[in-house]
Amino acid sequence: MNYGIILASGLGTRFNTDLPKQFTKIAGKTVIEHTIDVFESSKHIDRIIVVITPEYRHIFENILLKNHFTKIYKVLNGGDTRKESSFIGISSIDDKDANVLIHDCARPFLSESIIDDCVTALKTHDAVDVAIPASDTLIEVDKNNNITSIPNRANMRRGQTPQCFKLSVIKKAHELSRNDENFTDDCGLIVQHNLCPVHVVQGDTQNIKITFPEDIFLADKLFQIKSIASVHSEKYADLKGKVMAVFGGNSGIGKCLIDMAAKYGAKTFAFSSSNGVDISDYNTICQKLADVYKQTGRIDYVINTAGVLKIGKLTDRNIEDINKEIMINYMGNVYICKAAIPYLTKTQGKILLFASSSYTRGRALYSTYSSTKAAVVNLSQALAEELAPDNIKLNVINPERTATPMRFKAFGKEPADSLLQPEKVAEASIDTLLSELTGQVIDVRRR
Ligand code: CTP
Ligand code: MG
Repeated sequence: MNYGIILASGLGTRFNTDLPKQFTKIAGKTVIEHTIDVFESSKHIDRIIVVITPEYRHIFENILLKNHFTKIYKVLNGGDTRKESSFIGISSIDDKDANVLIHDCARPFLSESIIDDCVTALKTHDAVDVAIPASDTLIEVDKNNNITSIPNRANMRRGQTPQCFKLSVIKKAHELSRNDENFTDDCGLIVQHNLCPVHVVQGDTQNIKITFPEDIFLADKLFQIKSIASVHSEKYADLKGKVMAVFGGNSGIGKCLIDMAAKYGAKTFAFSSSNGVDISDYNTICQKLADVYKQTGRIDYVINTAGVLKIGKLTDRNIEDINKEIMINYMGNVYICKAAIPYLTKTQGKILLFASSSYTRGRALYSTYSSTKAAVVNLSQALAEELAPDNIKLNVINPERTATPMRFKAFGKEPADSLLQPEKVAEASIDTLLSELTGQVIDVRRR
């Protein structure tokens, strides 16, 4: 029998949030839920043991109530050190022939293929570690911070988890190390006492440990890549019979989205200034969505690709023009979300808004445009949290320069291969709508 032991009893002091990092949310779910999901869905894992920080046990128990995990076997209070938590986990198993896979809860990107390699290796080895080649040169220093050696990088690896053992071997290692404070990890104990060879299988650069606050940005991106990659074309069949309203749907990216969704059987409705729909007017939006609902009895997806791009120095532009741009590019999104939410609550539907790559950093001549796009991202993050209890998902697509009529109007002709094609953006948009992502900014690049 294979036991997955998830170590979640740390305090996450380096991560520095109110609650330990295992309770931080990525893409709408806590880190601990993501990590359990990996073990829960693994064909190799029979039972899961979670070792949790005692003072936060009640939070974890609430998480258990909300999920339908079937393999959770024990929830144990952890110890003050990782070694102790690991010892508590292995001591709770009596089955002498068990295999244990001890994993850091803070590594939610563990893949099934690594678990597969570990379990296969355990057939011929009593101890297995997971590691990747070291990309930096490693140096060894003394207590005065002087280099004492530079090991050959080709022989160096960076350890990850899970670390996997025959239960009897790791139990023995812990017994022999009861009073040893120089603990690095479970494999270290085996090596120290020379109990058996520790075989190393290849890890994955994506199997990161969330440690510092900035790791959450990388984690968000890794989830996007993973979630969107898991949308397979057969999922496009889910569009059949769904109702999609696209503001800005008569040209550019919006038009491509409408065409693609219609091809897969969605009922589509396109609104744009060219057919008299001004998104800076809240009542018009409400009325258009009410019309759609009257005709179809449901709304599943509401998308806003409409926007205006005005370039110029703030001092040179007139105030009416600035007001109009902000009303369309920012308030238009606020209004569309507000008007759409009551319908989407009924269908657990999705909202998609659009940013621009300039949102991360303002640029001269684009002051109002870029700042409205930054505001849209912030709006979406906030609303995604507000809407999570209703299971409405909201994301932002962030395409790089795209060949659209809006861009042509602002810049004229540009080399075709320097621009992203709107079809590619439409495809990424549909993949996002069909994924479980929420509160994310999805970057779409030419390559
Ligand atoms: N861990 C544990 N019990 C402990 C300490 C750590 O179960 N007493 C777990 C953590 O929850 C984490 C994993 O071991 O999933 C790896 O540890 P680390 O990244 O160091 O997490 P923390 O100890 O929580 O973080 P920090 O060291 O920054 O306080
Ligand atoms: Mg720690």
